[in-house]
Amino acid sequence: MKVNPNNIELLISAVKPEQYPETGLEEVALAGRSNVGKSTFINSMIGRKNMARTSQQPGKTQTLNFYNIDDQMIFVDVPGYGYAKVSKKQREQFGKMIEKYITQREQLKVVVQLIDIRHNPTEDDVLMYDFLKYYDLPVLIIATKEDKIAKGKVQKHLKNIKDKLELEEEDTIISYSSVTNKNQHVIWDAIERYL
Ligand code: GTP
Ligand code: MG
Repeated sequence: MKVNPNNIELLISAVKPEQYPETGLEEVALAGRSNVGKSTFINSMIGRKNMARTSQQPGKTQTLNFYNIDDQMIFVDVPGYGYAKVSKKQREQFGKMIEKYITQREQLKVVVQLIDIRHNPTEDDVLMYDFLKYYDLPVLIIATKEDKIAKGKVQKHLKNIKDKLELEEEDTIISYSSVTNKNQHVIWDAIERYL
């Protein structure tokens, strides 16, 4: 798959279903712990530095951000989970907003769940994966920040994540780095298979 970096548009930052855009395009949602690199992943995949807002501070993305990707699909940047400094009330609101979108959105075809390749999946990572599986959604796991570990350790870390999540047969795990863009074409091919 090839996308034109100049044909990417933020359609809307939505907080409720009435605001979701009706485009006729299928959707790919990005899920993951706050600060794992979801927004950076989007920018890196589309070849734009600052399309999706990123930050050193966790909790940057607070709405469902719908990006039209070259009229080929929509990427939906989702607020991260597991960020301690978000108030309990706000966490509940995020949770409901994400749950509604994931469970009710017909054009959602795959969830890309990002997990930091360096660490064991958190309890929240496991909960999210189980939640997606409960709703029968295909999941593409991206083990991100691959540039931060030694090359020789990548396979071992991937296997660890796979084991801890009890990754199902039909789901795929691919390592990635937004610094080197390694595996970018493999990921585009994987996404394309779900659309
Ligand atoms: P929330 O919006 O809070 O949910 O966070 P997010 O998941 O969108 O994370 P974001 O994309 O803002 O990235 C968080 C930090 O991780 C930034 O400082 C990024 O530069 C860094 N980062 C993201 N991906 C990579 C990667 O592949 N390698 C390295 N070294 N750093 C990365
Ligand atoms: Mg973000």
